[in-house]
Amino acid sequence: MPTEIYNSIQEEIQALKQKRNAVILAHNYQTGDIQDLADFTGDSLGLARQAQKIDADVIVFSGVLFMAETVSILCPDKTVLVPDLEAGCSLASMIQPAEVRKWKETHPDGVVVAYVNTTAAVKAESDYCCTSSNAVQVVQSIPKDLEILFIPDFYLGSYVQIKTGRQNMTLWKGYCHVHVMIQSERIARLRKEHEHAELIMHPECGCLTKSMSYADQILSTEGMVQYVRKSEAPEFIVATETGILHKMRKENPDKNFIPATDQAVCNYMKQNTLEKIVSSLEQMRHEVRVPEALRKRAVLPIERMLEVSSNGKS
Ligand code: 13P
Ligand code: SF4
Repeated sequence: MPTEIYNSIQEEIQALKQKRNAVILAHNYQTGDIQDLADFTGDSLGLARQAQKIDADVIVFSGVLFMAETVSILCPDKTVLVPDLEAGCSLASMIQPAEVRKWKETHPDGVVVAYVNTTAAVKAESDYCCTSSNAVQVVQSIPKDLEILFIPDFYLGSYVQIKTGRQNMTLWKGYCHVHVMIQSERIARLRKEHEHAELIMHPECGCLTKSMSYADQILSTEGMVQYVRKSEAPEFIVATETGILHKMRKENPDKNFIPATDQAVCNYMKQNTLEKIVSSLEQMRHEVRVPEALRKRAVLPIERMLEVSSNGKS
């Protein structure tokens, strides 16, 4: 975008933010121009925690809908706006509340652990929530004799199962259409070509179990951003959505970041634009509000997760 237009949009957004007493939260997969003018950027857990601390009437959440719903669940007194209502998530849409209920009927003693990439209605049917940064910790906190029904990401679930050694864990077969594009053969080739590079992977990657033995780190998006800041390696192979490269490159101009594949682009995340952020603040449109009865149920698994995760400080 030409600098003049960018500057004028930026001014417009600053003025609207003041008028509405609003802040902008942006996920690490947002385009660089959105990340640069956001008040906070981060992963899904970090942004939800940030939202709880914010003293503002309005939160514009530039990410995907389930993340905005999580913020609305945790901050019912705030108005949560999204720039585009089409910003869904392929993984979240892979399980419906009725399917969770049916699964529970056949496993009456099972404990449902839902990845945060689920709708509020699915969270309301679940016992615990988890994110990519605390899934292992959440599962470890559940008594070993209880069966775990893990939804919806099969790959994250497989990773947790390996890390915890838990046998009594049944996995839903959902996946993210972006992270399944990342292939172990390509990662192996990149590692040969860049022998001094560290490999960092997101646990949603479809090839995680094949590649995890030689991954240097398996982290949430914000975990990755923090890791590359402190690592002394000169290069990194980054196995997740490419939007994350913006922040990494900006903060670490002397380091080289190589995407595991350029094709790992989330079309849902990229629905959001600066222009749509302006419209949403101007017209106070696309409010995401979880109805109170549903919110009261959906908040329980999130609160359980936050408790486990704050005990372990992750
Ligand atoms: P993080 O919680 O690691 O940011 O991941 C969210 C997500 O949707 C990854 O595809
Ligand atoms: Fe959902 Fe995948 Fe996009 Fe993350 S990258 S928001 S899991 S579709």
